[in-house]
Amino acid sequence: MKMRDILISEDIQGAAIDVLRSRFDVVSLQDLWKDAEELRVRVKEFRGLIVRNQTNVDSALLDAAENLVVVGRAGVGLDNVDVEHATRLGVVVTSTPDQNAISVAELAIGLMVSLARMLPQANSDTHAGNWNRREFLGTELYGKTFGIVGAGKIGYLTARRAQAFGMKIVACDPFISRDNVLLSELQADLVDFDELLSVCDVVSCHLPANKHTAGIFDLSRFRKMKPTSFLINTARGEVIREADLFQALKTGMIAGAALDVRATEPPVPGELEALPNLILIPHIAAFTREAQDRVIQAICEDVARVLDGKTSQNAVNKVSRAVAVAAR
Ligand code: MLT
Repeated sequence: MKMRDILISEDIQGAAIDVLRSRFDVVSLQDLWKDAEELRVRVKEFRGLIVRNQTNVDSALLDAAENLVVVGRAGVGLDNVDVEHATRLGVVVTSTPDQNAISVAELAIGLMVSLARMLPQANSDTHAGNWNRREFLGTELYGKTFGIVGAGKIGYLTARRAQAFGMKIVACDPFISRDNVLLSELQADLVDFDELLSVCDVVSCHLPANKHTAGIFDLSRFRKMKPTSFLINTARGEVIREADLFQALKTGMIAGAALDVRATEPPVPGELEALPNLILIPHIAAFTREAQDRVIQAICEDVARVLDGKTSQNAVNKVSRAVAVAAR
């Protein structure tokens, strides 16, 4: 079998891909992620695979990819990559931490303002020819409490922006301690999840999807929130039980929510789409020109580095050469 360099199985474009093409044999098939069987066949001859969040890089794909040396995840979430199995097989997995954090933080704040002032609803209503000022009596953010669930880089950048509105910050994160430098900078209170839910006016979720976070926003959690509060999720859809969110929004348990991410993407339209107090957008938090340029450049550079036999700068796993050779 002829060995080839890099397969891109999703819609990933940009100047950095062109640079990559000048040095490597790059094949871009932007819909390939939709056909797992075909992907398992095509991937066999490649040394590198670049994906975003739609390609399911599971153990079956990794087992089929007999020449694979590196998986580049253009983004930060790793829920679509079986990193443990890649490590067993000696495949380096690299991602682009922080490159899209500013864009995600900016979008989370945009969603907060949209919820507080009903901007999407007011926009649609005015486009329909109406002038209903009374219907769009909003909520001021100044002096309110903003909670980040997950205090990593994105949570921190979002909270900093919320602070500019004069909001008080609280955070919960089992992996950080009270003396954390970033939390001190935010003058944030570190509390547990349930306390955060009960004191916050706006809750912004920044959790990865994994077995510990799946469905943690369920009815019991919504019951703890203020009836005037808003929930924003720009992280991963799996952390919210969507049927429970529907009930919480429908019955006024919480005032509103904004979801950039869904449990299944693309989602099958259902009852959520009909709710007037829910803003829905199609996983675009990281989709700005600037963030995408940085993400794609970073992933291209790191994948090239590994294929050139150098050490990855952003590997999320540790792969020794001996393991890599023995595994293949
Ligand atoms: C990320 O994980 O980087 C963002 O959710 C965007 C993406 O998955 O492409």
